[in-house]
Amino acid sequence: MDRYASIIGTGSYLPETVLTNFDLEKMVDTSDEWIRQRTGIVERRIAEDDIATSDLSVQAARLAIKKAQIDPLEIEMILVATVTPDTFFPSTACYVQKGIGAKKASAMDISAACAGFLYGLDLANGLIISGQYDTILVVGGEVFNKIVDWNDRNTCVLFGDGAGAAVVQSTEEPKGILASYIGSDGDYAADISLLGIPAGGSRMPVTSEAIDQNLNKIQMNGREVFKLGVRLMPEAAERALQKANVSVDDVDLLIPHQANLRIIEAVGQRLGVPREKVYVNVDKYGNTSAATVIIALDEAIQDGRAKPGDLILLVTFGAGLTWGSTLLRL
Ligand code: UT7
Repeated sequence: MDRYASIIGTGSYLPETVLTNFDLEKMVDTSDEWIRQRTGIVERRIAEDDIATSDLSVQAARLAIKKAQIDPLEIEMILVATVTPDTFFPSTACYVQKGIGAKKASAMDISAACAGFLYGLDLANGLIISGQYDTILVVGGEVFNKIVDWNDRNTCVLFGDGAGAAVVQSTEEPKGILASYIGSDGDYAADISLLGIPAGGSRMPVTSEAIDQNLNKIQMNGREVFKLGVRLMPEAAERALQKANVSVDDVDLLIPHQANLRIIEAVGQRLGVPREKVYVNVDKYGNTSAATVIIALDEAIQDGRAKPGDLILLVTFGAGLTWGSTLLRL
């Protein structure tokens, strides 16, 4: 009997506090008009100071578990994709395990930046179809506000906080993950100013000098990252389609990484997916990094844009560089 890995429940959680472009106008030299035109972002959510990534992730995971109608004790593994872990160690996944009472699970984090959630799905898929596991919780969660330099208008307008979760379970029905593809190119890691945080790891511990230079905050060359995203995401999406031998015309909904509306639209155009089949929520939440695609998938299911039986194509890219795509039959 063939085994498939199916998403049987999703959930998402966004902090209540809304930070609008107009709020940002009062913080840095920017304007609502610039942010809307260049990014499509209108507002984003910001977690309170005492909230960490696992707090948002636990909320999202509880909703996913409820939808999946499973007992948390059925979960055998927890994978949390994040670049804003609660602590370097223990892993954020261990805090999530405690928060949801999944006492029988193993737990670990995935570090693949904005591509992390699809890395987690790829891993879950492999572990489930090989017969090793039956039920895996995959989470993408970020509290980006803690790693953003709130004086840098080049980056602080782009990001937001949030989390999404999916319960992935084995099935013998030919549905769920039909194809998955992930890739990376570490050549790009050499230039940390492209996208990353220089200080805080073993390469450059956080010192007062590093803090003075904001090296413990996100650095990004937006223009370069933009070009890479527009090239890499369509290539990644094509790989999943080819693996499953499916035409892009059969895709009911394309969910690209929500970083910038112009990138999202360019990806849709390059793939030949009409605008109405491309899911967009970057206007409401900004870029929530590892959480964007799972928050969007959960919302699409809730608002009826993604229905049982639909063919959904998720695609993302991020620092590393990393990228990935997943073709799903809901
Ligand atoms: O998850 C993956 C991570 N990141 C991304 O996917 C981001 C990818 N990149 C982008 O989304 C875009 O490159 C940005 C939105 C970051 C920037 O848009 P752009 O059209 O590439 O603008 P630019 O970097 O070419 O900057 C244009 C101008 C610059 O001024 P000068 O040098 O032309 O005088 C910037 O200083 O806009 C200025 N600028 C701003 N102005 C007002 C940059 N940020 C702002 C701002 N408000 N917030």
